[in-house]
Amino acid sequence: MSPSDSRLFIGLMSGTSVDAADAVLLRLQASGQRIETLACVSVPFSNALRQSIQALQAPSPGELELSARVALELAHVYAKGVQQAITRAGFIARDITAIGAHGQTVRHRPGEGFTLQLLNAAQLAETTGIAVVYDLRPADVAAGGQGAPLVPAFHAHVFADKAECRAVVNIGGIANISVLPAASPGSTEQVLGYDTGPGNTLLDQWHERHQGERFDAGGIWAAGGTANQDLLAAMLADEYFHRPPPKSTGRDNFNLEWVNRHLQARAAARSSRMPRARDVQATLSELTAITIALACEQAAPARVFLCGGGVYNADLIQRVTRLITRRLPQCRMATTETAGVNPMAVEAAAFAWLAARRVDGLPGNLPAATGATGSRVLGSIANPWGRLRS
Ligand SMILES: Nc1ncnc2c1ncn2[C@@H]1O[C@H](COP(=O)(O)OP(=O)(O)OP(=O)(O)O)[C@@H](O)[C@H]1O
Ligand SMILES: [Mg+2]
Repeated sequence: MSPSDSRLFIGLMSGTSVDAADAVLLRLQASGQRIETLACVSVPFSNALRQSIQALQAPSPGELELSARVALELAHVYAKGVQQAITRAGFIARDITAIGAHGQTVRHRPGEGFTLQLLNAAQLAETTGIAVVYDLRPADVAAGGQGAPLVPAFHAHVFADKAECRAVVNIGGIANISVLPAASPGSTEQVLGYDTGPGNTLLDQWHERHQGERFDAGGIWAAGGTANQDLLAAMLADEYFHRPPPKSTGRDNFNLEWVNRHLQARAAARSSRMPRARDVQATLSELTAITIALACEQAAPARVFLCGGGVYNADLIQRVTRLITRRLPQCRMATTETAGVNPMAVEAAAFAWLAARRVDGLPGNLPAATGATGSRVLGSIANPWGRLRS
């Protein structure tokens, strides 16, 4: 095998949950057809960084300056993730071909022609000594796509099977599904992918507001509540859930204001009693579970792989399992761990893989998933040394 047949890439992801930067070190062989996870680490965000990122989700005075400061701080947090991953796997910076870094989404408005992920990529390259592939979404948006989801192509490479249709459901802040029809791994023509709606984001926001802690560990608070069926029905009537894919969403759409609008509508209808805060949490958990189960029902896969932080919310997973089993009794469900990938590492690994696609000049998007008019090579490269290591 020539040296260029085996290369190391690092993927970095921080999503809508604004919890941490996840870093994964991947070994890619045969141009990314074979992958091996060598290290995966998570660097938690400080409360101050999290609050700044949350403040940037909506326009405010001084946001330009704050964006620049957050982009710089993210570079330092990401660099910590890179260093920890390299050290854990026993490598040095020179061994790594490139980093694929998602950055932090603060606006996602593909319909208006833009999506914005903050990251000072020049600083990340300078601090780590490794070239950085970044801004992976805008090329797809410029080509008329949603700029999301970008992970289905990677899911197809890793989780597809010749004999059966499979789905990968990532329950991050937003939940998304990749549908991988029976096909040889790597074949992507029939692959579908889209955001099903809120994953953990509403659960986290409502829990933090009422319980103080950033998330409902194990889903214990939700499990002690009762889903309010009228409220659930009103939430499920949201236009997003009825729009056909390709589609993507974010905290712009699903946030506490959205929850409060639904609660106020109930308050205005005098006949209905206001649900307790805990029952609202149970309702939001059911909302995430139902929208995931409906997406699975439509795809009718033989097997579903679950990943993302939501897999650690036992209440949510119990609801998802109950609803999918009711709709698809034959369908087997497990986390991606059973396929050898840590559930918290899948998204970051996808960005390592996308970095390899960029370096090799290969397309990273799937137009069927994003709605773009064609395949595009995604991302810009911050490479202050002017050459890439092979
Ligand atoms: N032990 C746990 N119990 C309940 N929920 C958990 C637990 N651990 C993680 N979570 C949930 O997972 C979330 C983090 O998930 P994850 O990092 O996959 O989301 P994300 O950062 O939005 O990522 P992405 O956008 O890439 O999908 C937390 O905010 C929390 O809601
Ligand atoms: Mg996260």
